[in-house]
Amino acid sequence: MSPLQLLVHRPRRLRRTPALRQLVREHKVDLRDLIQPLFIDEGISEARPIETMPGILRLPESAVRSEVEDLYRLGIRYVMLFGISHHKDEEGSDTWSDEGLLTRTIRRIRQSCPEMVIIPDVCFCEYTTHGHCGVVRDGHVDNDKTVENLVKQSLAAARAGADMLAPSSMMDGQVGAIRMALDKAGFSHVCILAHAVKFASSFYGPFRVAVECELDGDRDAYQADYANGRQALIEAHLDEEQGADILMVKPGTPYLDVLSQLRQRTELPLAVYQVGGEYAAIKFAVLAGALNEERTVMETLVGFKRAGADIIVSYYAKQVAQWMEKGVV
Ligand code: PBG
Ligand code: ZN
Repeated sequence: MSPLQLLVHRPRRLRRTPALRQLVREHKVDLRDLIQPLFIDEGISEARPIETMPGILRLPESAVRSEVEDLYRLGIRYVMLFGISHHKDEEGSDTWSDEGLLTRTIRRIRQSCPEMVIIPDVCFCEYTTHGHCGVVRDGHVDNDKTVENLVKQSLAAARAGADMLAPSSMMDGQVGAIRMALDKAGFSHVCILAHAVKFASSFYGPFRVAVECELDGDRDAYQADYANGRQALIEAHLDEEQGADILMVKPGTPYLDVLSQLRQRTELPLAVYQVGGEYAAIKFAVLAGALNEERTVMETLVGFKRAGADIIVSYYAKQVAQWMEKGVV
C-alpha cells in the first residue's frame, strides 16, 4: 500500500474551489472595522499630496466636509483626526482652544456628517514648536504637566462633539486622568481608545513629514522600546485599569506578537494602527511594480485580524472601501 492511501487528512480538499475556501475562511475584513486617519492643514486652500505617503492628501479645512461625506457614502464610519497647525507654541495650546484647529474640525465634521464617529488624536507634537508630545522641561518631556494639558485638550474635544478620544502621547496616567475629567464634566459617554502600546518606531517617519513635525531628537524617553514585549503588556494592563474602552497596538506589522499576546490577556476590544511607514512600504513597492496592491493590503489587514485585532486604523481604509465598491476585493 502506498503511504498516500493512508492519508486521512487532506487540507487541500477545502481549498479546491473559491466557494469552499470562502466557507472555511476564519477572518474577514469589514468596512465597519476600519478607521480612516485624516490630515487637516489650516494653512492651505487646496488639498496637497504627501510625498512620503502617495495617495494620501493633506486637506484644507474647506475640503473636510466633502471628504467625510465621500467616506460615509463609501461605508467608512470612523475617522481619526490629525491637525497640521500653523499656530504652534511651546505647549501646543491651540489644542485646547475652543476656536483651535482641532475643535473647529470636530464641529465641522459633526455638522456635515452627524453619524460619522469622530476620533481625534489627542497629543501635542503637531502643535508644539519643538515637536515633542508634551511640555519640555530641562530637556525632558514633563509627564504630569503634559497630562494636565492632555486633560484640557480632551475636554475641548469633548465639548466640540468628539465621540472617542485617542490620546497618543504615551504619558503615564494619561488614560485615568482623562477618564476622570471627562466624567466630572458630564462626558461619561465619550470613549477612550488608548494607545496602550505605542512603540518608538522608525515607521512614523512618513507621518512626521506629513504633519510637518519638527522634532529634534527622538521620543525614546516616552514611547515604548521595541525590544520589550512584556513591558508592552504591562502598559496595556495599566490603561485597562485606568478605564480605557479599547486598547491599541501601534505600529502593526512588526508587533503582531504583542497583539496576539494581548488578545489572550484582555477581554476589551483591540485595535491596531497600520502606520504611515507601513502604508509607505507597501505603496512604494506597488509603484515600483514589485507588489500587487489589493492582495498585499488585504493580506496585511486579515493578518491583523488573525493576530487578534477587532479594529484597524489604516491609511488604506478609503482605498479598501473603493475596491469593495468595485468588487475587486
Ligand atoms: C504622535 C503620533 C505619531 C503618530 C501619530 N501620532 C507618532 C510620532 O510621531 O511619534 C504616527 C502615525 C503614523 O505614523 O501613521 N503623537
Ligand atoms: Zn505626539
